[in-house]
Amino acid sequence: MEIQLIESAADKTEADAIVIGLYQDAAPSGAAAAIDNAAGGLLAKLIERKEISAKRNDVQTLFAVPNVAAGVVAVVGLGPKEKFDRRAAFEACGAAAKKLAGKARKRVAYFVADGWTSEQTEAGICGVHVGDEGQDLFRAEKRIFPPGEVCWAGTDRVAAWQGQVIGEATNLTRRLVNEPPQDIYPESFANRAADVAYECGLQGEIWDLDRLEAERCGALLAVARGSSRPPRMVILRHDGGSRGAPTLALVGKGVTFDSGGLSLKPTDGMLTMKCDMAGAATVVGVMQAIARLGLPVNVIALCGLVENMVSGRSYKLGDVLTARNGKTIEVHNTDAEGRLVLADVLSVAVDRGAASIVDLATLTGACVVALGLDVAGLMTNDEAWAGRVRAAADVCGEMVWPLPMFEHFNEQIKSEVADIKNVGEGRWGGAITAAKFLEEFVGTTPWAHIDIAGPAFREKPKPFADAGASGQFVRTLVEVARGWK
Ligand code: BES
Ligand code: ZN
Ligand code: ZN
Repeated sequence: MEIQLIESAADKTEADAIVIGLYQDAAPSGAAAAIDNAAGGLLAKLIERKEISAKRNDVQTLFAVPNVAAGVVAVVGLGPKEKFDRRAAFEACGAAAKKLAGKARKRVAYFVADGWTSEQTEAGICGVHVGDEGQDLFRAEKRIFPPGEVCWAGTDRVAAWQGQVIGEATNLTRRLVNEPPQDIYPESFANRAADVAYECGLQGEIWDLDRLEAERCGALLAVARGSSRPPRMVILRHDGGSRGAPTLALVGKGVTFDSGGLSLKPTDGMLTMKCDMAGAATVVGVMQAIARLGLPVNVIALCGLVENMVSGRSYKLGDVLTARNGKTIEVHNTDAEGRLVLADVLSVAVDRGAASIVDLATLTGACVVALGLDVAGLMTNDEAWAGRVRAAADVCGEMVWPLPMFEHFNEQIKSEVADIKNVGEGRWGGAITAAKFLEEFVGTTPWAHIDIAGPAFREKPKPFADAGASGQFVRTLVEVARGWK
């Protein structure tokens, strides 16, 4: 969705709708003050009578406001000014966009960004993209209608364009996750990633079954075996930095459907398991943004793509797998498949000379139990590196929280017959034992693991976004890449 810059005054702007923002416990300022003046103090009156609120993400629409050219004025609450940040910008703009997208409109103009930093503007424009696109990809009668034209006042071309690039990347990720698993399987996902690479000038390669066998990816291949859809590994490269500059690796779990395998999931747990490739989809979205922004850094992305299915060829409990790095793994539960896939992908990242790694994975239900639906778990073998990832998430307003990686958790993944087993002892600390398993495959490379099982996919909508894929952590990873050496 292209963002047009406008410089006309809010009250004089011809549009189906304009959006203005209000801070809590403050008189209308900027464009809101201009509209208030034009309309003879209408806003101030409505605020005083508590007909409109400045509470975060509240949106009220006013019609036929006197002396205002636009047919609708949407007033969005920005919360307290001292707490206003990129997250607030993203959510408020998303909420306004989503509300206005309830009906088809030709032109919507945002006058919210008075005094905003260019990063806040970027987040706001990203929010508009998210609010304007829903999960109803296949519904004949849509419920969310993106406007024909989106205009933005009070910023420069660069910030607007960067917001657009990151917004489009976020929606690319969301679309890949929202599409049904009959359409998104390892091969089709890989083809989509190849299209993205071609369009934005990324280098890349796709490993097919033969190549994965030649590379001895025994853990990934075991998971894939139960499906009639062959696995893939997608490797994308952005060589924006100088030759020899260190490479950042982004790794994504791409289980295009997780039935649980022979450790079959019950129906309720399986229903949303098309989202189990959200890590891979996030990584593809981020690479698109990094390439289009032309970031001066070297980044490699690796996605392990499999379907975890049930058949006469499925891998079994008790099987012993040999991973690409030579470690042997006893299978105790075929539903703990993500770590098996990532084991081999991480070892490729290490072999490709990654200086640091971030992986994203919808890895464990235990992480959702620990941190809830909106917060991702952050686990690492290198506190300094994880600190940088966490700082990036913090400034973007995407929530991550560290979980401890104490040595003693290693005991839990020891096996009687192989080097390690693919689950811990019982359910306790499940997010951590999963991370401990992954740690076995990164060697000494600084590595941060983000478990996005909670935030990747929403069963209920938010004021600022439809239900379904959230696209969370696209912004954080772009921020990580921007800060890469
Ligand atoms: N894909 C799931 C984790 C998941 C759960 C993602 C809920 C999104 C929402 C993963 O492969 C899985 O099934 N993990 C098991 C591990 C267990 C068998 C050790 C889990 O969390 O129950
Ligand atoms: Zn699983
Ligand atoms: Zn899974």
